[in-house]
Amino acid sequence: MDSIIVSGGTPLNGEIAIGGAKNACLALMPAALLTDEPLTLTNAPRLADIATMRALLESLGCEVAALQEGRALALSAATIASRKAHYDIVRKMRASILVLGPLLAREGAAEVSLPGGCAIGARPVDLHLAGLEKLGATLELRDGYVYAAAPNGLRGAEVAFPFVSVGATENVMMAATLAKGVTRLSNAAREPEIVDLARCLRAMGARIEGEGTSTIAIEGVDRLRGATHRVIADRIELGTYMLAPAIAGGEIEFLGVERGLVAALIDLLEAADVAVEDTARGLKVRRRNGVVRAMRVTTAPYPGFPTDLQAQLMALLTQAEGESVIEETIFENRFMHVPELMRMGADIRVKGGEARVRGPAKLRGAPVMASDLRASAGLILAGLAAEGETTVARVYHLDRGYERVEEKLSRCGARIARVRG
Ligand code: EPZ
Repeated sequence: MDSIIVSGGTPLNGEIAIGGAKNACLALMPAALLTDEPLTLTNAPRLADIATMRALLESLGCEVAALQEGRALALSAATIASRKAHYDIVRKMRASILVLGPLLAREGAAEVSLPGGCAIGARPVDLHLAGLEKLGATLELRDGYVYAAAPNGLRGAEVAFPFVSVGATENVMMAATLAKGVTRLSNAAREPEIVDLARCLRAMGARIEGEGTSTIAIEGVDRLRGATHRVIADRIELGTYMLAPAIAGGEIEFLGVERGLVAALIDLLEAADVAVEDTARGLKVRRRNGVVRAMRVTTAPYPGFPTDLQAQLMALLTQAEGESVIEETIFENRFMHVPELMRMGADIRVKGGEARVRGPAKLRGAPVMASDLRASAGLILAGLAAEGETTVARVYHLDRGYERVEEKLSRCGARIARVRG
């Protein structure tokens, strides 16, 4: 298993190109199941999770061709060969559940393994299932699978989500594009990835209004057609790297992005005395006067501060002056990076969903390990602030969501390398 070795203490200068959004692409790829014509996604990220979704779609009979060295994906589900998403693939990645809505809408039946446990929380899929039931599907849970059927097609309905779920909004929105009549989603997720999916579905002929607000209306159509769609920039990759110069000093320009993607992070950074400037090519980040101020932050659905940047922000806050408080409200077990940061010398106390971080702490390099993607990214950022060598093990977590982390950071002057093993 590969590991990444980081040595801290050098300021970072240069530019970083941000890739296409993993979480947008993972929802866009299953949309290909909704039509017998080809869907081409450009600006696709080259990541392990995308390869997993590709394998899942291929197992259903969807042809997937990687073009432009993997930067574009041509997906063609002319016919659906299988309606079954096997446990072997689904257990690797929870986003696999996103094939359920499209398969059901197109085929009138689907068998999808229930995703298993997850390191960051229980992450049930009850909202996805309840939403599809509202559209008239009958569901049966048996042997670890959900057996879904709608032999006469789905019908539009009012679906009021009890709380915000990105995945449930995506699954039900896709299913509703081919239902008879109008579906209204209330308390829908407003994430940029939802907006991106809605735009792609519209290019495929779907009738959707209200994406980006908490009420989305979808008028079903008889069939969807093929389209070409550019995946939006990855706001979590962007946010992660924006924290690097805030932690290590220096100035980095991020290419192909705009501040609306990470507005909540920018507000916090500016309050902490980190400057974020618009440029002709994107955004530039630099620490203003060498001192970062402590802050209070609560994770929340978009447009709030994303849970997917919580571990990375915590790495910065170990270096901030004073006591910071981070409240995690989305996942019940997303502080796994804390014991590892403490092994590096951070002063953090966790009580329930709240972490108190006292800084600035003098971090020292250590061998560390994380059991999820964003926690691993947080540890690499902490390594940039630490004296000596930090070895981050289990890099396969990182490879699920970050493309060539070591190359992007070393080009800006970071001392970071991947050790194959
Ligand atoms: C998406 O997961 C992202 N994944 C996650 O990215 C992200 O952390 C999360 O949204 C929150 O922003 C993808 O887009 C592929 P949710 P999703 O449904 O859709 C609970 C990363 O690091 N819930 O919005 O699974 C759930 O347990 C990751 O890239 C139910 O109880 O998240 C959680 O507490 C990991 N029942 C909350 O809702 C349901 O049916 C929000 O989850 C669905 C969700």
